[in-house]
Amino acid sequence: MQDVDIQTILDDIRQQTEAFGDRGNVADYIPELAKIDPARFGMSVRLVSGEVFETGDAGAAFSIQSISKLFTLTLALGKLGTGLWARVGREPSGTAFNSIVQLEYEHGIPRNPFINAGAIVVSDVILAGHRPREAIGEILRFVRFLADDPDILIDREVARSETETGFRNYALASYMRSFGNLDHDPALTLGVYFHQCAIAMTCRQLAAAGLYLANDGVSPLTGGRVVAPERARRINALMLMCGHYDGSGDFAFRVGLPAKSGVGGGILAIVPGKASVAVWSPGLDRNGNSQLGTWALEQLARRTGWNVFSG
Ligand code: DON
Repeated sequence: MQDVDIQTILDDIRQQTEAFGDRGNVADYIPELAKIDPARFGMSVRLVSGEVFETGDAGAAFSIQSISKLFTLTLALGKLGTGLWARVGREPSGTAFNSIVQLEYEHGIPRNPFINAGAIVVSDVILAGHRPREAIGEILRFVRFLADDPDILIDREVARSETETGFRNYALASYMRSFGNLDHDPALTLGVYFHQCAIAMTCRQLAAAGLYLANDGVSPLTGGRVVAPERARRINALMLMCGHYDGSGDFAFRVGLPAKSGVGGGILAIVPGKASVAVWSPGLDRNGNSQLGTWALEQLARRTGWNVFSG
């Protein structure tokens, strides 16, 4: 694939998105996110070899929301190792990202680290031995390190908005605490969780931050090892199976790449051995995943031949 081809593909994709009438709906259950213009669109491709290709609003910061769960999972695995899997499963849920139903049957153990319940347990692990403020600082430092960019910030208005309205998450956390799967007061753990979700990043920064997963656990930006090769493969496997909640099967069918979505409209996709790709379009489908973002990744995968199921 020539460099010029990727740039042409991205520009084609952006141009085609302009004709879309139905872009999905922005996430209005978080009041701050309801204000975002659904017409925004950005995309950034970063190759492990160093080249970067971008189109549209690739330099505009947006709320990464559940994409943060990828970074906190990486951090928590670094702290607990495989012990984490005693508290969180590794199976697709087949239910909505904020569903509570499986928790009763499965004794407070969430299906995977990407649904809200699983990510709340992961935040609880990161909080251990710290004040919430310190744990939030550790997550932010880690994301800045991954992206090799000290300018990444938390959007305090988004964090406040969710703290005031995130009643489902309070329910999930309290319910897991009743089963003994939360070590802290739910309000403290959720303080960490809401702030990690409120990290604001651009497509450019996100594609940079994800690159260690495309490069066997080593960031090509800094040359530093983030995780062992086996762990990078396993995180990618979880993204493929669970990264889009009950839309994960359809996403794998259409795009064929491990990826993590967020209700801010972002998706971070990994092309193992080749690239990290971030896309942003705020309108969501019925599963809470970016509608045009998924379409854009489908086009990119088709035209580049990037797909984990082809040789
Ligand atoms: O807890 C929530 O509901 C949000 N902070 C994150 C949910 C999310 O991003 C789901 N992703 N598609």
